[in-house]
Amino acid sequence: MMNKLFISCLPGLEDVLGQEVEKLGYAFTKGRAGVFVPYQDMKQIYILNLHLRTASRVLLPLATFRCYDKNDLYKGALGVNWQPWFKGMPTLAIDSFVMHKTLTNSLFAAQVVKDAICDQLKGKTGQRPSVDTSNPDLGLHLYIVDNMATVSFDTSNPPLHQRGYRIEGGVAPLRENLAAALLILGGYKAEDRLIDPCCGSGTFLIEAAMIASNTAPGILRPTFGFYRHPDFNEDEWQKVKADALKQEVKLEPGKLFGIEESVKAYSILKRAIHKSKFDRWIAVSNGDFRTMELPYQPTFVIANPPYGIRLSEMEELAGLYADLGDFLKQKTHKPAKGAIFTGSLELSKCVGLKTAKRYVLSNGGIECRLLTYDLY
Ligand SMILES: C[S@@+](CC[C@H](N)C(=O)[O-])C[C@H]1O[C@@H](n2cnc3c(N)ncnc32)[C@H](O)[C@@H]1O
Repeated sequence: MMNKLFISCLPGLEDVLGQEVEKLGYAFTKGRAGVFVPYQDMKQIYILNLHLRTASRVLLPLATFRCYDKNDLYKGALGVNWQPWFKGMPTLAIDSFVMHKTLTNSLFAAQVVKDAICDQLKGKTGQRPSVDTSNPDLGLHLYIVDNMATVSFDTSNPPLHQRGYRIEGGVAPLRENLAAALLILGGYKAEDRLIDPCCGSGTFLIEAAMIASNTAPGILRPTFGFYRHPDFNEDEWQKVKADALKQEVKLEPGKLFGIEESVKAYSILKRAIHKSKFDRWIAVSNGDFRTMELPYQPTFVIANPPYGIRLSEMEELAGLYADLGDFLKQKTHKPAKGAIFTGSLELSKCVGLKTAKRYVLSNGGIECRLLTYDLY
């Protein structure tokens, strides 16, 4: 077994993720779209998966080898004893990132690894696993850069942004781990009175409730990849979960409020909040933030307003962004903080306030910005 875990995240979130890792008591070094953490034991894997808010996956390397061509890749993958990982013949998916002179197709490279696994298992057991790319029982990750290949076991599977409170359909929500990172970067604190004036399905509200109550983000998840690790110990895992529950703190009511204009999004929002079990602490209202009566003057406002692709929408949206700027200026209890996350540089300029900090982050291939404001 290799001695370093790789914890992946969205590019640009390495520092926030690293700080989280450090808070849990582990050292880290920064990598590309993730951090490396010296591997200790299975308990560490349970803790990282359960507690990290901004991570995507925790990967445990099973083999690292030189890889100049397809044959090296096949042989390297055969070097792992796969039998203990495939008890009961789980379905399989191999995710891959490949930058290589001759192996130019990452799907093909993943196929070579899959063939090696299937050939080995067929020889030993007479059975071979089938592939399920959308909902695999067992997830592997292949990484090839600079003629070095690493095959890792995905201890998270499915990825950690899937917290277990999401209601599918309709609105385009932010990924939960990105929303948590934006709250942290924006300077959100448990004592803040928060308002999201364009709250959609409520991702900021629910992630803020989790941060303020010190709730482990993975606590509602029905499954983790590490359940399939040959050394998985149910009792030890239950203890890690019980410790997390003990660390939760009671939230004060009346500190989280969201406004959503669309009736469809509002119905999804209500259901997501209920599923997250924070109904008593998160209040929401259906309407326009420009005319909505507020329950309090917020000390922290965060929003991910729409950013139209069509030019015809730009004028209307420019007005919306300017109104958000006014909302930040006029409705907050000073000193306060504001944070706006948008995929449009042009629209962000319409907010009309001096930014304190800017972060450029890639969100689903779109270059987005988090702009923060200090309001005095
Ligand atoms: C990009 S989505 C927000 C997604 C949200 N962050 C999430 O994770 O689900 C923007 C939302 O702002 C809402 N919205 C647009 N204008 C609004 C207004 N004037 N007042 C309240 N909500 C508005 C839209 O209906 C939409 O649901």
